[in-house]
Amino acid sequence: MKDILEALEAKREKARLGGGTKRIDRQHEKGKLTARERIELLLDEDSFEEWDMFVEHTCTDFGMEDQRTPGDGVVTGWGTINGRLVYVFSKDFTVFGGSLSKAHASKITKVQRAAIRNGAPVIGLFDAGGARIQEGVDSLAGYADIFMENVLASGVIPQISVIMGPCAGGDVYSPAMTDFIFMVKDTSYMYVTGPDVVKTVTNETVSHEDLGGARVHSSKSGVVDGAFENDIEALTQIRRLVDFLPLSNRESSPERPSFDDPLRIEESLDTLVPANPNKPYDMRELIEKTSDEGDFFEIGADFGTNILTGFGRIEGKTVGFVANQPMSLAGVLDIDASRKAARFVRFCDCFNIPIVTFVDVPGFMPGTKQEYGGLIKHGAKLLFAYAEATVPKVTVITRKAYGG
Ligand code: HXC
Repeated sequence: MKDILEALEAKREKARLGGGTKRIDRQHEKGKLTARERIELLLDEDSFEEWDMFVEHTCTDFGMEDQRTPGDGVVTGWGTINGRLVYVFSKDFTVFGGSLSKAHASKITKVQRAAIRNGAPVIGLFDAGGARIQEGVDSLAGYADIFMENVLASGVIPQISVIMGPCAGGDVYSPAMTDFIFMVKDTSYMYVTGPDVVKTVTNETVSHEDLGGARVHSSKSGVVDGAFENDIEALTQIRRLVDFLPLSNRESSPERPSFDDPLRIEESLDTLVPANPNKPYDMRELIEKTSDEGDFFEIGADFGTNILTGFGRIEGKTVGFVANQPMSLAGVLDIDASRKAARFVRFCDCFNIPIVTFVDVPGFMPGTKQEYGGLIKHGAKLLFAYAEATVPKVTVITRKAYGG
């Protein structure tokens, strides 16, 4: 019996090392944490229960039968964030570059299914090179299974993705089907095809960073909802975000003790909004002064900056704030602002989060660029989202509400 236990512990030790110490060192040299270190920081201390630690791939082509690592490049399981259940998977770049095999995909879908069944968020930490080349179509079938669970989970449980290294090929699509994506500056990038393929197909020369770095996606493409300085900041902020969210659409958001007097008078708001309708002011300040203890978790801070979206609390309960920002493009509604706010409003509606809207808008943005870009369709998304939402909606017109 002792021998068996020792053999088991040795196997566990091997699994914990993933692709080995050399590759772990390389990961650290790049300024990245390992898959397991990330989970430790994300979850409450000692709360992680790992699943499928010894699962290995089943591929026998290209000499793969001799290259097996327990866990097969993804660490999966569940744990808690401030005592509340979450499911998690964390790609291990030290094992085949975190690439996705059929077995690896099955580990992820097992977590997704359990999360849907038990009503708790799924958090995916990405650091991976896409489909496991040696497995070919088996790997692609694995992606299809994951995408299917993303769709079934949509609107049922919150799904959060954090990109913490390369995220290429098939790996970009699952995050894109989740509710929120965040990236880490300088160490992560996200694209369907990398710079070499781009060069071959379009003859464009572009770096990893300029093609799919955190700055590009958080401010230009709007693919991601925020960019953080490093792994530690990213994981700490995800813990903060989870604190605002209900575990599923069957529950309401958690109530936090509030020491903010609901009858508090905020004198400074009397002077924040200028009498002159053309003078800008910072709407973010208004939100922070309305929210309990000034706590505001902004979503999409650097994209569509003419509208603000994010979570705060009023009397301890989560609300979604949506507000025109007169500091950016005079708070006009354009394609990016409409897309961003519509998605946010729909999330709030799915998850029983009341919406507080501060309006100070000169209307929709005129011009050919906007019309050719489909402003009518994108603007309609925002109208649809508001009209469809059945959660409580409170609107305050802080100065003007013109046009559409
Ligand atoms: C198998 C892979 C791999 C992959 C990386 N590795 N990607 N193994 N399948 N897709 C392995 C490498 O062989 C290497 O093994 C280790 O991971 C680290 O990779 P490096 O290249 O040394 O790291 P780095 O220089 O940081 O570059 C990372 C990378 C690059 C940019 C991700 O590895 C890369 O371009 N990989 C291939 C990307 C790709 O083409 N993926 C398939 C896309 S198609 P050793 O043993 O040396 O440590 C797809 C289908 C989508 O995903 C369809 C969805 C519908």
